[in-house]
Amino acid sequence: MRPEVRRAAEILERGGLVAFPTETVYGLGADASSREAVARLYAAKRRPADHPVIVHFADAQGAFAWASAVPPAAMKLAAQFWPGPLTLILKRSAQAGDFVTGGQDTIGLRVPSHPVAQELLRAFGGGIAAPSANRYGKVSPTTAAHVREDLGEDVALVLDGGPSEVGIESAIVDLSGGRAVLLRPGGISRQQLAQALGETVEEKRADSPRHSGGHERHYAPRTPARLVPTHTLDQEIAKLGSKVAVLAFSRPDERVDYWLRMPREPAGYAQKLYAALRELDGAQCESILIEAPPETAEWAGVRDRLLRATS
Ligand code: TXA
Ligand code: MG
Repeated sequence: MRPEVRRAAEILERGGLVAFPTETVYGLGADASSREAVARLYAAKRRPADHPVIVHFADAQGAFAWASAVPPAAMKLAAQFWPGPLTLILKRSAQAGDFVTGGQDTIGLRVPSHPVAQELLRAFGGGIAAPSANRYGKVSPTTAAHVREDLGEDVALVLDGGPSEVGIESAIVDLSGGRAVLLRPGGISRQQLAQALGETVEEKRADSPRHSGGHERHYAPRTPARLVPTHTLDQEIAKLGSKVAVLAFSRPDERVDYWLRMPREPAGYAQKLYAALRELDGAQCESILIEAPPETAEWAGVRDRLLRATS
């Protein structure tokens, strides 16, 4: 085992905070069974205490010990997509303290696939509570450098596992109420989930359980950002004139101060998205224009994050 992974596990055992890579985004981890450690985590995130966090495990067996009931649908999804970018919401068992669930009777469980996350989870042995390693309401980090920019001294150790491969947060499926409900789209599509389950998966509704990803203006840059349809991009650029940064599929336009070109397929786009938003936010422009992606299902995860970034 790498010495810094061992050190990270020791910090967690002492109730400290460690940032670590996952395949989705970087997480800020704390011992999920320690009330004090989780309190420290919420303080570092500046996150309200009634927002639940996801608890991470090395495998499904460890994760399901924190659920009071594991429906067949959970078994199916775990078998197909764990380890991977999927979070399951289940009724919590006595193992899961109310301080990780925001006082709710359900718990978010995830088994990440990133080798460094796996190594850390195995070294630590227990559940690691980990929200994305950014301050509350900011764009999630997909590199170790992003984490240091955001959290600085508040995190004892940042494990570096390179840029996150998926780039947007895990898909969250709520199975606590009988039917499967997709609370947050991610790297796994609603169609893939439905296929694995052999039943349809509903989209999130406003009255689904509380989840901070569901709040407006989450994942948002500080610079005002707008989503514009492809056919009006040119017009919008002409109208703005002043310092504008653009995120688009097409080739740069000379009138624009800062132009970032994005991949035309959703997985590649997602992988680059948060770094791109950070870059545009740092470009000292007065506004950001984002060319709207296609309305198709495979763009759902990206579209969700862009809608939040521009709401
Ligand atoms: O990809 C990910 O899921 C990343 C990596 C680090 O694993 N984590 C992540 O955590 O995005 P966070 O805390 O930034 O977002 C977790 C989402 C929040 O919207 C949270 O409220 C929701 O999961 N959540 C957690 N437990 C829940 C529960 N019991 N019911 C409903 N939503 C829950
Ligand atoms: Mg987050």
